[in-house]
Amino acid sequence: MEWTKEQRYRSMDDVTEEELKGLAKLVNDCPWRQSFHIQPPTGLLNDPNGFSYYNGEYHLFYQWFPLGPVHGLKHWYHTKSKDLVHWDNVGMAIKPSNDYDSHGAYSGSSIEHEGKLYLMYTGNTRDDNWIRHPYQCLAEMSQDGSVVKMDAPAIGDVPAGYTDHFRDPKVWKEADQFYAVIGAQRENETGAVVLYRSGDLKDWQFAGEVKTGLGESFGYMWECPDYFELEGQGVFLFSPQGLEAKGDSFQNIYQSGYVIGSPLDLEKVELKHGPFQELDRGFDFYAPQTTVDPHGRRILVGWMGLPEIDYPTDKNGWAHCLTLPRELSVKEGKLLQQPVAELESLRGDKAEANQRVENESIGLDGFEGEVYELLAEFSGSIAEEFGLELRVGENEKTLIKYDAVSKKVVFDRTHSGATFAEEFGTVRKCALDADTISFRVFVDVSSLEVFVNNGEEVFTGRIFPGKNSTGIRVFAHGGGTNVKAVKWNLR
Ligand code: FRU
Repeated sequence: MEWTKEQRYRSMDDVTEEELKGLAKLVNDCPWRQSFHIQPPTGLLNDPNGFSYYNGEYHLFYQWFPLGPVHGLKHWYHTKSKDLVHWDNVGMAIKPSNDYDSHGAYSGSSIEHEGKLYLMYTGNTRDDNWIRHPYQCLAEMSQDGSVVKMDAPAIGDVPAGYTDHFRDPKVWKEADQFYAVIGAQRENETGAVVLYRSGDLKDWQFAGEVKTGLGESFGYMWECPDYFELEGQGVFLFSPQGLEAKGDSFQNIYQSGYVIGSPLDLEKVELKHGPFQELDRGFDFYAPQTTVDPHGRRILVGWMGLPEIDYPTDKNGWAHCLTLPRELSVKEGKLLQQPVAELESLRGDKAEANQRVENESIGLDGFEGEVYELLAEFSGSIAEEFGLELRVGENEKTLIKYDAVSKKVVFDRTHSGATFAEEFGTVRKCALDADTISFRVFVDVSSLEVFVNNGEEVFTGRIFPGKNSTGIRVFAHGGGTNVKAVKWNLR
């Protein structure tokens, strides 16, 4: 169904309870609802927003269009958690309502200040000629969870030299100053990021465009920037649009990645760094955001989805989910990503195996399931390739393997189940040179997240298999390998 502008920009005030109930029923009838991921109650979820620890809990908001699986009038939906594992749906946090956010409360971040959590977001507006005018808005959330918008935007104008693609403020504090990076497009239609400063969070000064080593042109727009320091290094994350696929890289419609180097020079507004690296090698990952928690951990959550792609859940009135929270660390100029330790609290019944597999594909005793965590370590291999077949059914399987000839990790969803996004290919690969390979896989009803060799690489992807496709197999071709595997059902 094509959605008209009127349908996409309809105010929630005009939607009846009846209508919402009908939609919720359609959504809950979907065979692919997730069991331990954050997903929208109805409609479409996109970017994680305002991720923070405040008042004794983690708060994670997301971009939300409540009425269907399309991009329309965006709201902020609020979820919170004490342990990063079990999330409560709090409800709508920001609703477009005024002259500064009439056409969407777009992405942004949050920061604690004077006992409140300040939400800084892009107010998207359109004039009568449908020309976009973005504002950077502020709202304050109190300890009781109530959210009040400030009367005037924090940043009202787009600075000279940039187009109306100017959004997604990520705010942080250093010494007594607040800083925000904002994703931008230069007038010559190339992507950039700009820096603002403020003494009080309300009054902001333009500090300049961040000088990077990425050249004059690196995509046409940089969305959802994030900057932080980790283990003494400066890390700048962003989601550039318009990069061309190159070898195994940049295969998705849009990319997400980072550069890492010396801390951002806040006076010169300059970042010295190494090459751009993709954060996730899988199919469905975009617009990640990080926060630092009271334990000092830097934690990242991404949108497990991408724009401009139809997903099999669309016909049930919803789309997308967020990734699991991942703890970041730095190793040799690269970010490692590990699922947060708290996820172990989901572990239930356990199965174990330890054996050699040689020129065969076999099921392991007691291994099967729809929702589980699986850790498989392969060593002593002389095989040409080895790996896992997951969510195996009569005509379905999802492959995670190591190709020891080309020294690549491969995620193949060609035969995973209901097909979608095939125009972007059904296989993702990345190079990894190692003698032992471990796959730690989180399998939910309609997704896989694979952490390879303790987070050196991560592959995230949605899959839509049949309910009965619960087989788990290990295989080795062109030789043999030892495999040690543990599987936990997740509760
Ligand atoms: C990224 C993005 C952001 C924008 C938001 C709107 O997916 O396009 O740049 O703020 O989504 O929902």
